[in-house]
Amino acid sequence: MFANLNLRKNSRTNREFALHDYHNVFREVREVLEQYVPKEIEEVRMLEIGCGRRFGITLLFHSLGAEATGIDIDFVDPSFSLSGFLSLWKKSGFVRSAKLLFRRFLFDRTYYQTIERELEKEFGCRLRKDNIDVRRMSACSLELPGNHFDYVFSNAVFEHIRDIDKASREVSRVLIPGGIAFISIHLFPSLSGAHNMEWRRPDEKPSTSVPPWDHLRQDLFPTDIFLNRLREKDYLPVFQSRFSIIDLQSRYEGERFLTDEIRRELPDFSEEELLKRSIKVVMKKR
Ligand SMILES: C[S@@+](CC[C@H](N)C(=O)[O-])C[C@H]1O[C@@H](n2cnc3c(N)ncnc32)[C@H](O)[C@@H]1O
Repeated sequence: MFANLNLRKNSRTNREFALHDYHNVFREVREVLEQYVPKEIEEVRMLEIGCGRRFGITLLFHSLGAEATGIDIDFVDPSFSLSGFLSLWKKSGFVRSAKLLFRRFLFDRTYYQTIERELEKEFGCRLRKDNIDVRRMSACSLELPGNHFDYVFSNAVFEHIRDIDKASREVSRVLIPGGIAFISIHLFPSLSGAHNMEWRRPDEKPSTSVPPWDHLRQDLFPTDIFLNRLREKDYLPVFQSRFSIIDLQSRYEGERFLTDEIRRELPDFSEEELLKRSIKVVMKKR
């Protein structure tokens, strides 16, 4: 019975993830594309950095006819072939590869069915997995040609990259002159910046067990996800050294949790910085 409940909960979560990816991420990435890249979708060469195991956004653009490439440092294999499974087993061990296989067959179907339904409603076309170009590589050393892409985008990935100067140099190298990069970053000093699941959605479902901004205070509940811990003031100069920033938008969260006591404990951070969840940076290659 518990397994049953979990299955139901998981497929609901996957539907929620899919709807979020479609209506938030895909929509935003498309809006920036339409605003700044003056080409028909079929003519656009685009690259997604950190497309994730399910590469949903790359898949949606590929299905619309764009020349879309997705890369991720972790396992990406559209067919989930036997050789892919074996190489994952070798690298990550049997338990992780078996878990992935399990998830793939049980939950990813819900994810793909949901994004496909939304795509059909909006554009009248189906998902196309054939010939999709997704590859495993690091953002810091892209095995891709220079001056090739019109558009590079990345959502919730740069905060996981150790050397953002290298990654930014690579983004600039693969873009054509005047090409556009759209990078969304979840900021470490924010309430949800430690990627602790307890604070994933502070305004809707605050944690009752982890103190707010624990990661900047006592750090009693560390997570095992790699984060570079950079602040907005660390990212922007790195980007500005190669790009012209043409739009910068911020999203905020958690105001009601920021007490005077916490402010006094964190004098290095301004109120604005503690409340800023993420930035979305649109940049043009010089
Ligand atoms: C939080 S997930 C975001 C995935 C996807 N972009 C999304 O919005 O759902 C971060 C992704 O970045 C990838 N990643 C982390 N470091 C990377 C690097 N150096 N190069 C490429 N991908 C990286 C991870 O493997 C993971 O899939």
